[in-house]
Amino acid sequence: MGIKFQWVCLVLTVQALIVAGEFFKPFNVSYDGRAIIIDGKRRMLISGGIHYPRATPEMWSDLISKSKEGGVDVIETYVFWNGHEPVRGQYNFEGRYNIVKFVKQVGSSGLYLFLRIGPYVCAEWNFGGFPVWLRDIPGIEFRTDNIPFKEEMQRFVKKIVALMREESLFSWQGGPIIMLQIENEYGNIESSYGPKGKAYMRWAAKMAVGLDAGVPWVMCKQTDAPEYIIDTCNGYYCDGFKPNSKKKPIVWTEHWDGWYTNWGDRVPHRPTEDIAFAVARFFQRGGSFQNYYMYFGGTNFGRTAGGPNIITSYDYDAPIDEYGLLRQPKWGHLKDLHAAIKLCEPALVAVNSPHYIKLGPQQEAHVYSYNGSKCSAFLANIDEHNSATVKFRNQAYILPPWSVSILPDCRTTAFNTAKIGVQTSIKTTGLDVASYSNDPAPLKLMAPYEVDYISKTWKFLREPIGAWSDSNFTYQGILEHLNVTKDHSDYLWYSTRIYISDEDISYWEENQASPVLTIDSMRDFVCIFVNGQFKGSAKGKWIKVVEPVDLIQGHNDITLLSQTVGLQNYGAFLEKDGAGFRGQIILKGFKNGDRKLTETMWTYQVGLKGESLKIYSIDENESTEWTDLPTDATVTRFSWYKTYFDAPGGLDPVALDLSSMGKGQVWVNGHHIGRYWTLDAPKDGCQTCDYRGAYDSDKCVTNCGRPTQSWYHIPRSWLQASDNLLVVFEETEKTPLEISIKSHYTETICAEVSENYYPPLHAWSLPKTSNGTISLNHTVPEIHLRCDAGNTISSVKFASYGTPQGSCQNFSRGNCHSPNSFSVVSQACMGRQSCSISISNAVFGGDPCHGVVKTLSVEMRCSSSSSTSSSLML
Ligand code: GAL
Repeated sequence: MGIKFQWVCLVLTVQALIVAGEFFKPFNVSYDGRAIIIDGKRRMLISGGIHYPRATPEMWSDLISKSKEGGVDVIETYVFWNGHEPVRGQYNFEGRYNIVKFVKQVGSSGLYLFLRIGPYVCAEWNFGGFPVWLRDIPGIEFRTDNIPFKEEMQRFVKKIVALMREESLFSWQGGPIIMLQIENEYGNIESSYGPKGKAYMRWAAKMAVGLDAGVPWVMCKQTDAPEYIIDTCNGYYCDGFKPNSKKKPIVWTEHWDGWYTNWGDRVPHRPTEDIAFAVARFFQRGGSFQNYYMYFGGTNFGRTAGGPNIITSYDYDAPIDEYGLLRQPKWGHLKDLHAAIKLCEPALVAVNSPHYIKLGPQQEAHVYSYNGSKCSAFLANIDEHNSATVKFRNQAYILPPWSVSILPDCRTTAFNTAKIGVQTSIKTTGLDVASYSNDPAPLKLMAPYEVDYISKTWKFLREPIGAWSDSNFTYQGILEHLNVTKDHSDYLWYSTRIYISDEDISYWEENQASPVLTIDSMRDFVCIFVNGQFKGSAKGKWIKVVEPVDLIQGHNDITLLSQTVGLQNYGAFLEKDGAGFRGQIILKGFKNGDRKLTETMWTYQVGLKGESLKIYSIDENESTEWTDLPTDATVTRFSWYKTYFDAPGGLDPVALDLSSMGKGQVWVNGHHIGRYWTLDAPKDGCQTCDYRGAYDSDKCVTNCGRPTQSWYHIPRSWLQASDNLLVVFEETEKTPLEISIKSHYTETICAEVSENYYPPLHAWSLPKTSNGTISLNHTVPEIHLRCDAGNTISSVKFASYGTPQGSCQNFSRGNCHSPNSFSVVSQACMGRQSCSISISNAVFGGDPCHGVVKTLSVEMRCSSSSSTSSSLML
């Protein structure tokens, strides 16, 4: 009874603290020329980017705890203005936009928060985060010394700071927020605005600091930031970066650990060893705060993707994948790196600037020694090709190419960035999975998980071509797309009617020619219809369109469907960009001169009828008459389809495989999953990936000749066990019969660790001495393997303790092989979610080959603990 009462009290106290926003004892945050200072102490901080609306609130706590387990101290997010203020003055802080709940969850997990308010954020997010209504404010010019813009920006920034303060979320209130950002990479475009650019930048800085938030503010890529704001670095590498004053610490606000993807492009990946190298070099050379952009990228749900042409997945090749699962070896290797950096933290914060020692032509050490004998060091080999043996404090160290060894005691290697000791995981996925090795070997492409599909009954509905409602209007000439749609829909119908005479027809017959429709300039996508028949389409950014058309004698209806595919999110003068058509639209090839359609009367219709009737929603879809879709139906373009499906059992994340479809949008139970577009990436460019040498986003790409995106995440919380409503709007002649539902999970896990593996210090097994400090004595190396939650190891595909060859999915036995390999591994791992095995003769019942260095290589399968079936089809 007493114990129970105590528990109740404890739970109530914790809840009370959380309600009050007191996650920590209130603390101050400041900085000096070396580091961010938290509660009076300099800190070396690892931060991870998670954008709250790119996940569901149900996913947040798992993402935050996986970040914490991965050794992250701080969660970073932008604030998404257009999500929070969809209509001017009407705010939304609910659901995926419940920023207060997100920040509180970060605080209650014991992590800090870095809030990048912007409110321009770029982020591959629609319109860079700006609400589209901002364009309509009279006299407005974005991101410059313009009163209407500054008023709106200040109002929103103030609102967010006030909200955080009201909820007691700043550090000095006991909340998690330790740092804020105003603007975003304004330095890239400042000069486009002449002197007004600098004036605006100064205003933004002053306005932000004037809000008295009580924590430091940063401006990224802003070399001319004022003295009271920290200017920070964004990039793949920031180890050479110096802020504009010695009084400011070296802060890396965006470490791009992957990259975003456009429809029709290859999918970028960044090798783990190179990310670890970049982070280690940063702290080696005096860096103090590093944020992964992104630690979890997530999904551009609905129409939130930026543009033009950003895909729905924002996976970013981040340490936590789009679905919330660990990406291995990336997550684990970086976790080990973070643990090694943390071992050096006392030395790093004790020293203002490290002692530099040149160890060789491309090798160098940075030594942080203090209190006489205490010391940490980083040894780097920046040679892109060769290993180097260096001598440091009378000891020899072998440094692999393009790597850093971290020596927390200036003697023992706790970590080397190029030596991965953690598991590799291969998931069921719609994307190719790249497997990188330390050698410049060809990329190995893993086949996606294959399953059959079961088609169910589908119903369909045709979307009218052209105007469909009383809300259409007529205007002489061509109006700019966004001025008409206000971005309430991607789609805008433009229709005009022209008269074709007998004389025109005979002219074309005699000359065996046809008239040609030309559009001077168009973005992002247009479909051309003549008399209700589809004639062609074009995609691009301000491209010229030329389309031959057939016309009949009499009246002809020319209809153009202009589409946006995510609004521009980067660059100067965003408010002037617009979309749709520019210049002239002309019908050419007439005997008596061209027809200037730009001067005719056009009928405008915003959006689709299905969108306006919300036929994708649970409430409204039944109010419309749908027709059964026969399996042999000849389908037409621009159709809506619907069916119902059951959710796969278990916990694995769920995806829709839309690789059989063309282009459109999709909803599940009324939730807008996003746009889809089955565009293939170019066939070439996917050959090799070598972690060594400077990275760029074209370096390690996959999906050549295959669709950029095939699988689309359906968050579990949007599903019920059965009868989930699936509605698809398809713009091409593809039918939905082959759409399937898939489970996304880690199917294959591999690891490979040698007896003499150095460094043998895994973050999760660092031994603690009796006084709680971490011992750097070498331990027996171990292999650690883990399936996703709800899954267990169901088979051992390969196990060899000896001298196995090859790599994951391609292992083979070498000359030396312990006959007990399989049974030892099976016994330790089968039926478990995770297991560990020591790499030692004792474990394997004796030495299989005396005097030879032994390695343990294993490959296993994971499957759902509740059932062996992993996928459930329509
Ligand atoms: C940066 C920008 C981010 C994001 C990134 C690319 O320049 O600040 O918001 O767009 O590029 O993913």
